[in-house]
Amino acid sequence: MKAAIYTAYGPPETIGFVECPIPAPAAGEVLVRVRAAPVTAGDARLRSGRVPRGLGPMLRLAIGWRRPRVAPGWAFAGEVAGLGAGVTGFATGQRVFGLTGFRGGSHREFLVIRADGPLLPLPESLSPEEGAAFFFGGLTAAEFLIDKARLAPGERLLVCGATGAVGGAAVQIGRHLGAQVSATASPANHALARQLGAGEVTDYRAGTPPGPFDVILDVMGRLGWPGARPLLAPAGRYVQITADLWAMLGAALRPRRQGRRIITGTNKDDLASMQRLVALHQAGGYTPVVGQVLPFAHLARAHQIAESFHKPGNLVVVMPA
Ligand SMILES: NC(=O)c1ccc[n+]([C@@H]2O[C@H](COP(=O)([O-])OP(=O)(O)OC[C@H]3O[C@@H](n4cnc5c(N)ncnc54)[C@H](OP(=O)(O)O)[C@@H]3O)[C@@H](O)[C@H]2O)c1
Repeated sequence: MKAAIYTAYGPPETIGFVECPIPAPAAGEVLVRVRAAPVTAGDARLRSGRVPRGLGPMLRLAIGWRRPRVAPGWAFAGEVAGLGAGVTGFATGQRVFGLTGFRGGSHREFLVIRADGPLLPLPESLSPEEGAAFFFGGLTAAEFLIDKARLAPGERLLVCGATGAVGGAAVQIGRHLGAQVSATASPANHALARQLGAGEVTDYRAGTPPGPFDVILDVMGRLGWPGARPLLAPAGRYVQITADLWAMLGAALRPRRQGRRIITGTNKDDLASMQRLVALHQAGGYTPVVGQVLPFAHLARAHQIAESFHKPGNLVVVMPA
């Protein structure tokens, strides 16, 4: 089988492919034939080593100082191709989707994963491409809006950067939770933002819709606290999804500011969070937007698009049939 590897921190061309044997599932493991996998902003950051200011040393301590010592690919959709001893919850041929997570390994034709790990049956309502796209932005949007910002019905939500992986999920989930959703996007994506559930859309280069907002979810973190503060209602929450070390430290040391709150950090990617997102989908609250779909062989091109931070929805690579 073919598997992608990172050879160095650097441009997309540093991604390589190797031929390796199809792994055999050990006891308690499932062999998955990967059909589709997302190429995310996170993948582009791990490959390039380019992260918000101040976070570079932490990234390199976590995944490798000289080169990324993780395997490419964070999530996948496919079907069960084999079962290790003692696995009862899955059947050969069953459609599944799941996460290989931070340590990676979904950008390959087959993978093994623990049956009791981050692996779920793929709902009938989702294509393999949608299954691949499902978790990255969705888990982030759900956790930040539901658990951290505690968005309530009737509240006003502004999503800045409303049509990428995180923003596209946030608009849908915000609307599903009963919020009135406003959005910013580049003009080419205004129709998509409206289709996802935004009532009012402006071009972020021309400013934001008028506040006050109860929750602002700022995908690229471009407003920062000084930009968000005047737009927040009393008791408003500013969720800065992309934040540098100083913004994160500031939010940790002084989260409450004149009745308002700043929220940064990362989200969980455990089985319970995945199951909640599936329940949200089944309740009509979230379906990932699949943007471009490229062949696996074009993985470097996919990384190039992902690191532009202007892709509509989610970018997916599909494996050869
Ligand atoms: N904190 C966490 O746990 C967490 C989790 C996931 C992702 N992230 C981070 O979140 C960011 C976005 O990830 P993603 O997957 O959603 O990326 P994406 O799919 O590339 O989407 C980026 C979005 O940002 C918008 N945008 C680009 N430049 C902008 C600007 N100057 N002002 C306002 N909006 C702008 C884009 O709008 P247009 O396309 O219309 O230009 C697009 O909607 C990345 O930095 C990623 O590392 C953080």
